[in-house]
Amino acid sequence: ILKLGLIGHPVEQSLSPWIHTRFMEQTGIDGEYKLYPIEPDVFDKKITALMQSGIDGFNITVPYKQRIIPFLDELDPDAAKIGAVNTAVRKNGKWIGYNTDGSGYVRALEQVIPPKESLHVLMLGAGGAARGIYRALVTHGFRHVDIANRTASKAEELLQLQEPETISEILTFQEVQQQLADYDVIIHTTSVGMSPNAAEQIIPLTNLKPGAVVSDIVYKPIETQLLHTAKQQGALIHHGHSMLLYQAQYAFEIWSGRQVVVGDLLNQLEQRVTEA
Ligand code: ATR
Repeated sequence: ILKLGLIGHPVEQSLSPWIHTRFMEQTGIDGEYKLYPIEPDVFDKKITALMQSGIDGFNITVPYKQRIIPFLDELDPDAAKIGAVNTAVRKNGKWIGYNTDGSGYVRALEQVIPPKESLHVLMLGAGGAARGIYRALVTHGFRHVDIANRTASKAEELLQLQEPETISEILTFQEVQQQLADYDVIIHTTSVGMSPNAAEQIIPLTNLKPGAVVSDIVYKPIETQLLHTAKQQGALIHHGHSMLLYQAQYAFEIWSGRQVVVGDLLNQLEQRVTEA
């Protein structure tokens, strides 16, 4: 049987077991996806034991996406560049680390807007989530990706993840507000607006480009204040829970070698998040 799981602190509220159980049903694979909460002070001991336990693969969430790296034998080149791993797989006795967060996010975004070199993208935030997303954007056909972050130096660090053809400008939130109409896609990657602070919105949204897409990686609540405002402005909105599904889809494909479809799981997950 395919033995999978999730390590993190905390992990109890995770929706991943539900998602991967659906993928196992879809493929007819007999398997399990268990939660492994690990306290930071016993991480080294617990992770070593888990990796020797016969488990086939696992996801890594906060706060261990960097801390897992020295325990792995090989890293996918993008995961190495991003400096964070969310998926580990055991292959021929070796542990390999991947980052499916950013690539999953871009796969989710592609359902709403196909990548085109001419599109102007704005990324709000430059933290861990933003690193993966930025890297995936510039390797998946998005060429113009500007970054605005509260701390400018962290936005500058993201530029090391560029491709030769990438065009990126670093802006302040104030500058961004004056040129919002330039962007075809606006992606919010910080935790601002996450429950219980659901009334917060990272920047005011006015003067959006007609037909612009506004995307938020926050999925609790499903419709953040930012998305709510964007909708009122006539923008096309893209909800955060889709990233959760598509990063899981990528991970499951890595573990099982099988293709799975997201399909109606998106609606089912939305309902689960809303009810939680
Ligand atoms: P994650 O892994 O979720 O991305 P992180 O690496 O801690 O978390 O990054 C948090 C991001 O949210 C950063 O871009 C952070 O901005 P700073 O680099 O200036 O710290 C941003 N952030 C968090 N709280 C914020 C707030 N109240 N206003 C603006 N940005 C905020």
